[in-house]
Amino acid sequence: MVPPISVRLKLKKINKFMSTTIIDGKEVACKIREKLAEEIAELKALGKTPGLAVVLVGEDPASQVYVGSKVRACEELGLYSQKWELPADTTQEQLVELIHQLNADERIHGILVQSPPPAHIDEEAVILNIDPRKDVDGFHPANVAKLVLEDEEGFVPCTPLGCMELLKAYGISTAGKHAVVIGRSMIVGKPMANLLVSKKANATVTIAHSRTADLPGLCRTADIIVAAVGRPEMVNADYVKEGAVVLDVGINRIADSSRPRGYRIVGDVDYEAVKDKCSAITPVPGGVGPMTIAMLMANTVKACRQLTR
Ligand code: GUN
Repeated sequence: MVPPISVRLKLKKINKFMSTTIIDGKEVACKIREKLAEEIAELKALGKTPGLAVVLVGEDPASQVYVGSKVRACEELGLYSQKWELPADTTQEQLVELIHQLNADERIHGILVQSPPPAHIDEEAVILNIDPRKDVDGFHPANVAKLVLEDEEGFVPCTPLGCMELLKAYGISTAGKHAVVIGRSMIVGKPMANLLVSKKANATVTIAHSRTADLPGLCRTADIIVAAVGRPEMVNADYVKEGAVVLDVGINRIADSSRPRGYRIVGDVDYEAVKDKCSAITPVPGGVGPMTIAMLMANTVKACRQLTR
């Protein structure tokens, strides 16, 4: 006997809901950290302690939180760390001088200057001064080139690297898939597209941005969507094909008077509107975010290995 339509719809909804994988970035990051802890213990036994310097210029509250989390992660894993909090009126020359000091410091294997710096700082010029072998952010042109050339000695920006690790951890294949990356930043969009199109991943990639025509229509052709635009909950159900994988890189603060802090964090994806349509999705918070720091730790360990071999 065929069940009545109301029951069939309910079953369909349950099946759909059950088939959506909620990608748990916290859990994957935790496993990566456990593996790193073993590697760090081995390095320490050889008298090598990976060291990271984190530099923040100015008092942007979100950046202060991120920098605090990065230094805490170092402490938890037993890495050596230095936190440099410089006043907002720090000059370009002073910042570059610090970078040169860190380049020469043998305890430091990774250097990170938190982005974005104040407007008077020329970020690209600062990055050019970081020793590429210590550029654990993967922002130096030498590392950008290595990513494009698929040279694994280079450093890949942490957030896209974390996205690839999430896909791997959940057995989500990218080969032959159409991936649409929304956002063309040097921190996420462009490196993400390069990773997806690499011979390791074999996806077919479209990079979309604010001037892309019919963005929802384009995204509906995607098997994988990576949302990295910085626009709260922009990607709604209209953007998502049934069964697509959605990675949400957005971390946006929106006002919410019901919260003690007066705001809440949302992604670039309207999670509630989209989740039942996807085969897999990253929540915000708890999806891509925890992976960024785990990959920063991984890049610092890699830098230590490469600099001390
Ligand atoms: N700001 C937001 N994400 C990042 C990152 O991955 N590295 C740096 N340096 N700044 C950021």
